[in-house]
Amino acid sequence: MKIIIIANRLPVKIERKEGKFIIERSEGGLATGLGSLDTEAEKFWVGWPGIHTDDEGEKEEITKKLHELNFHPVFLSDNQIENYYEGYSNSTIWPLCHYFFSYIEYKAEYWEAYQKVNTLFSNEAVPFIENDDIVWVQDYQLMLLPKMIRDQKPNANIGYFHHIPFPSYELFRVLPEREEVLEGLLGADLIGFHTHDYMRHFISAIYRVLDLNCSLDEINLKDRIVHVDAFPMGINYDQYHNAPRLPEVKEKALLLKEELGDKTVILSVDRLDYSKGILHRLNGFVQFLQNHPEYHEKVSLAMIVVPSRDNVEMYADLKTKIDQAIGEINGKYSKLGWNPIYYFYRSFSFEELIAMYDISGIALVTPLRDGMNLVAKEYLATKTDNTGVLILSEMAGAAIELQDAIIINPNDTDEIENAILQALTMPEKEKKERLLKMQKKISTQTVKKWANDFVNELQSIKAQNREILQKIVGKRQLTQIKSAYDEAASRLILLDYDGTLAPFVKNPEDAVPSPKLLELLQKMSADKKNKVVINSGRNHQILDQWFEGSALDFAAEHGVFYKDNGTWHKNILEKVEWDDEILDIIQHTIDKTPRSQMEQKNAALVWHYRNVDVWLADLRAQQLINALIGPCARLNLQIVPGNKIVEIKPPDFNKGSEVLRRLEQQAYDFVLAIGDDTTDEDMFRALPADGISIKVGNFSAAAKYRIPLQSSVIPFLANLIK
Ligand code: UDP
Ligand code: G6P
Repeated sequence: MKIIIIANRLPVKIERKEGKFIIERSEGGLATGLGSLDTEAEKFWVGWPGIHTDDEGEKEEITKKLHELNFHPVFLSDNQIENYYEGYSNSTIWPLCHYFFSYIEYKAEYWEAYQKVNTLFSNEAVPFIENDDIVWVQDYQLMLLPKMIRDQKPNANIGYFHHIPFPSYELFRVLPEREEVLEGLLGADLIGFHTHDYMRHFISAIYRVLDLNCSLDEINLKDRIVHVDAFPMGINYDQYHNAPRLPEVKEKALLLKEELGDKTVILSVDRLDYSKGILHRLNGFVQFLQNHPEYHEKVSLAMIVVPSRDNVEMYADLKTKIDQAIGEINGKYSKLGWNPIYYFYRSFSFEELIAMYDISGIALVTPLRDGMNLVAKEYLATKTDNTGVLILSEMAGAAIELQDAIIINPNDTDEIENAILQALTMPEKEKKERLLKMQKKISTQTVKKWANDFVNELQSIKAQNREILQKIVGKRQLTQIKSAYDEAASRLILLDYDGTLAPFVKNPEDAVPSPKLLELLQKMSADKKNKVVINSGRNHQILDQWFEGSALDFAAEHGVFYKDNGTWHKNILEKVEWDDEILDIIQHTIDKTPRSQMEQKNAALVWHYRNVDVWLADLRAQQLINALIGPCARLNLQIVPGNKIVEIKPPDFNKGSEVLRRLEQQAYDFVLAIGDDTTDEDMFRALPADGISIKVGNFSAAAKYRIPLQSSVIPFLANLIK
């Protein structure tokens, strides 16, 4: 098995220096985090080498260099860099996912290039994907790739990790290509985010945009399940924790200390990006200088700003604003021998960066939105002398784990000012306690654990999907079932109605049986060996009306009523009188939930919500169930959540009790049950060991087989009796 990591950027970039190609490390959390991952499995990377060349000879030379490191370059043309990288990736998706609504640019050529480049990545990766390999697609630049690979390698193990925030549906919906993007992602078996909030937003977009069936953290597709989960990414803790002892780092740190004397350094490190809150940080710092002259000449802010995406207009604008703001602050406050701000607009080597972390007493991390923020974790990891205070924005994914930092809202300048003061005056004991707690967390939640957790979960989903695939009724399964059917002398065939024999329609009254269905059922029940029973939750009046004159048997209202040889029987003697409290609770739910309704059956009450917005329906169903628990327990009634319904009924009967009653009456050598709803699972569980249970729609562990689409049920039955 090998791991194939596919990311827009390789962990190294190629730079041209004095006519030669030099390999440098890439910046950014994805490349540095994943780049430091060591795994037992052999690791391959597919990605852009960060350099542009049209010269085939040069491409060959670069490729050769990179192949030695198991890196497979995807070269991009000038036009692709402009429209795919700077365009769709960083002028459309990036601002969208970071809630910079007014920065979002839509251009047809961006989207075209995005599709094209995703294809290039797919073409590079697909030829060397083998069966057991883990294909791990990274980040927002490649959201179409999981599907592209799936289309060519249907059995591949594909994971996708989103390193940036996923916005709420209300924002995501503005994207014109929202459907294609989500469908692209659903090519994966597992989709990971840094936090549960991003995961929640993604699932909400899936059911609202694609109207797919989601149950908690799973999305049910026709032939497989896509799992969604949160995996907070970590760092290679040991590497950072041990780094301050490296001779080269020690030397650099010493030089810096000599230069700065006993001044406290507040450090910030980010790519130049509007999501990082660099100007907000400067506002907070200048306010601190204004209000605390006692700290002048004692404290300096060291700002490492790594050049990033500088051809994108918003980034270039920001650069001008930062330069200006720093110029003004230094111009106003500097004294001989003291600069309030040291500004480095360049990339640092690993050793230089560690030396900066090492000598800084405070890290000031103020993003307005950030998927995770590894700088915060790296800073903490390098603090081996038990000092070091982290001020961290609550908008960074890392804030969820690093609650012992001084947490601030970067939009609140006073909070930044106060946090700086708090950090400067924090007692040593408190500093140590906070630091140790956070170090404990990040030393266990490492990048290796992150990757292992992801890969393990991906493999177990794959196993589950394999099982799901095997259960689907295809040719082989049909032959097995048919041969049991043909050999049997007596057969019991139990069929659910809504969602099984008839499609699940918006208005329950419209689920009238089609002539084709009536003809099929007529044919099935005409065979003397067959006992065909429609085992439904519907009331018996409507079943009588729809199947007037048919020779079928029925069970209605979940086994409370049954019809044997033309006569209806009732399992309960007395008429169910509904308690006012229960009726009021349901009525109240209906009043608050437009397009929902109550149905009063003979022995059950049902709240229907098939036409209600999914989120609201989930909320109201849960509230209704909570409100009903007390009265139903008192009156000995059962609450049954089903497919877009909540039903209240006497507890002694269900679809399973009907199966048992029939099996007691007569022995059969072939028993088949087909159903789509949770209430049909009672029927599956009541079957004899050799009974055949078929779940329509989603996967169910209680059923032996599965027919993914309701429209395939009638053709299946027709083939069975042929
Ligand atoms: N980094 C770097 N060189 C620098 C400054 C920063 O390689 O000169 C690295 C830093 O060590 C960190 C990454 O860039 O690993 C930034 O990751 P983070 O998650 O904080 O933010 P991102 O850039 O991914 O948005
Ligand atoms: C963020 C993104 C990464 C990206 C990095 C650097 O961390 O999530 O996908 O690689 O920024 O950005 P760049 O555009 O230079 O690759």
